[in-house]
Parts: sequence; C-alpha cells; structure tokens
Amino acid sequence: MSVQSTIKRKTAPDIRARKNGEPIVMLTSYHAHTAALVDRHCDVILVGDSLGNVMHGFETTVPVTLEMMILQGQAVLRGSQHALVVVDMPFGCYEASKEQAFHSAVRILKETHCGAVKLEGGIRMADTIAFLSERGVPVMGHIGLTPQSINTLGSYRAQGRDEGSWGPILNDAKAIAEAGAFSLVIEAVAEPLARKITESIAIPTIGIGASAACDGQVLVLEDMLGLSPRTLKFVRRYGNLRPAMEAAIEGYALDVRSRAFPGPEHVFEMKTKG
Ligand code: KIV
Repeated sequence: MSVQSTIKRKTAPDIRARKNGEPIVMLTSYHAHTAALVDRHCDVILVGDSLGNVMHGFETTVPVTLEMMILQGQAVLRGSQHALVVVDMPFGCYEASKEQAFHSAVRILKETHCGAVKLEGGIRMADTIAFLSERGVPVMGHIGLTPQSINTLGSYRAQGRDEGSWGPILNDAKAIAEAGAFSLVIEAVAEPLARKITESIAIPTIGIGASAACDGQVLVLEDMLGLSPRTLKFVRRYGNLRPAMEAAIEGYALDVRSRAFPGPEHVFEMKTKG
C-alpha cells in the first residue's frame, strides 16, 4: 500500500471484533486477478498453502516453501484493496522455535505487506503464537485437521467424530485463543464440537468442513468454483467453471486451426480496476 492510499483495509483487530457478530466471509486466492474478484465480497483473503495442491499439483502441502507463499502473497496484495490478507506459514518455516517462526513471519509481513499470518497446530504452538502476537505479528490459528501433518496423521480424516476425542481439540482451541491469536480456523470437525469450541473461546472461529456453528467460513476458491480436480465431501460447489473453460479453450483451438483469428481491427483495450 502506498502513502497516498485512502482505502482502509480490514485489520486483524476488525476481524477479532466480529466474535458473535456478522459472519466472517473468507476465501483463498493466490493471484492478483482472483484476489480482485474475491476482494469485493470477502472480509478475509487467505493465501493458503493449498496453493501447493491447487496451483502446483503437489499431493500435499508439505513441499510448499516460504518463497512460494511470499510470491503469491505479493500478487494477492496487488490485486486486492479492502480485505484483510492472511498468508499461510508453510511447513518447516515455524515449528523449530519461536525465533524461527518470528523470522519467517517478519519476512512474510515485510515482503508481502499482508495483515496477518496463519499457522497450524494446537497447544504445541501456543508459546510461538504468544511470542509472535506480543511482537506485532497477528496470528490466525488452525486446528482440527491440519494438512501439514499428513505424514504423521496418515490420512485427511475428519477430527473429533466421537465425543471421547473432543478433549484435546477443545484444549487446543483454548490454548490458541489464550495465546493471543485473533481468530481460529477449525477444519473437518463435527458440528457439535465446532459449536462447543465456538462457545468456549473469545476469538472468532472460521470453519472449513466444520458446519455453520462457527463465526465464519472459509473455502478454497478453486474447489467452490468447480475448477479444482479434487473433490472434498464438505465443499459446496457454487459454480462449475471447468467445462466452460474447456469449451472456451477448445473454441480457441478450433478458431486458430481454421484461421478464424481476429485482425488488427480488434485492438485489445487495457481496462484498469473498477
Ligand atoms: O491452505 C488453505 O487453503 C487453508 C484452508 C483450507 C483453511 O489452510
């Protein structure tokens, strides 16, 4: 953002203040062009490390690097004006120590100008979240199913399906909230547990596959648009863009092959924002 900008972006404290208020609308984006669309309707844009699956075709988010997150974070900041942009801290850049987490978070904030970072993990990350929050880094937590731990979890199963397993997840949520996170993503958690967490902590919960019993919702943009090759049970599709894109590409290829291509009378006009 330049010093001339008069547009006020949402901040982490604005989102924190939405506890028990108007539901928080959040979507992922990894590019300037999708960020500009998402920005018109969302409170928060997440530059998720799901970009590893969606953009790069990795099977897991484990290979995603800090450099990849920073590059796409910069693109999203350029494309958006109003929403709080949160950038995911990728696997391996924050777990070793509080200091490692701080250095990585500072790189993300300085190099992208985003307003907050997100990291995965419950009680084990509480000290780190407190360390970052006390030093000017707003942190969004992420508990329940934590995809960066796929190699120890073994599968992307829903968490807390029977009441006997709720205790550790609830304790994770409380620890993250008490450590100073401004909000908490809860992923793939059964509705009664999502409700209990939401009622038990003072910060907003943002669900993904965790029912409507949360203070907000997040989805991966490409999943909800029907663009992503993966199908996740809990994703409601709001569009089916893949066939439309395929038809457009096929139409283009047919035009080129039959030499039905526009001449100089179709001058391309650059349209700026708005
Ligand atoms: O990386 C991501 O997109 C996420 C959401 C699924 C919450 O963490």
